[in-house]
Amino acid sequence: MQNLRLNINGDSVEVGAPSHWTLCEVLRYRLGLTGTKQGCDKGDCGACTVLIDGRPVLSCIHLAALAEDKEVTTIEGLRPLHQAAGGEGCDPVQDSFDRCGALQCGFCQSGMILSAKALLDEVPVPTEEDARAALSGNLCRCTGYTQIFQAIERAACERAGLEPTKPAWAPESSEHEA
Ligand code: FES
Ligand code: FES
Repeated sequence: MQNLRLNINGDSVEVGAPSHWTLCEVLRYRLGLTGTKQGCDKGDCGACTVLIDGRPVLSCIHLAALAEDKEVTTIEGLRPLHQAAGGEGCDPVQDSFDRCGALQCGFCQSGMILSAKALLDEVPVPTEEDARAALSGNLCRCTGYTQIFQAIERAACERAGLEPTKPAWAPESSEHEA
């Protein structure tokens, strides 16, 4: 057992956990932050993605002790951190996933959103290739990815004041419309 000092979503926490526990285990089973999903638990699916100092990390293969003295962001932190920075409502990336319907069962969504946020913080207007590379470690069993990439495009365009090429949230035009 060891005592860890972690900074999670802007809060300093002290928590006891076995020294071999991963960050994913500490988040879920010590801190109750179950938005971080435990999927494959071996670094394959991306469901457990969190941000450490703004970069996406697979928390299921990252020892919790290695996160000491770093800033850890989980899905639960996005909205409060956005509001603490003066924003309103949800973090824009979360909002865009919601508006584009970029989920079905939702199991992959925390990891997808956090990977997308890290991308957009680094590359404000990414190409589709950038987006595909950034999310290449996040697997989704349900959506087919189309809305996920549309959500990233929408979030980027909203921030930059640009028109998205294919807005997923707009109604399809009907052949029967005059
Ligand atoms: S649960 Fe971590 S990569 Fe699958
Ligand atoms: S929405 Fe079900 S795994 Fe992605």
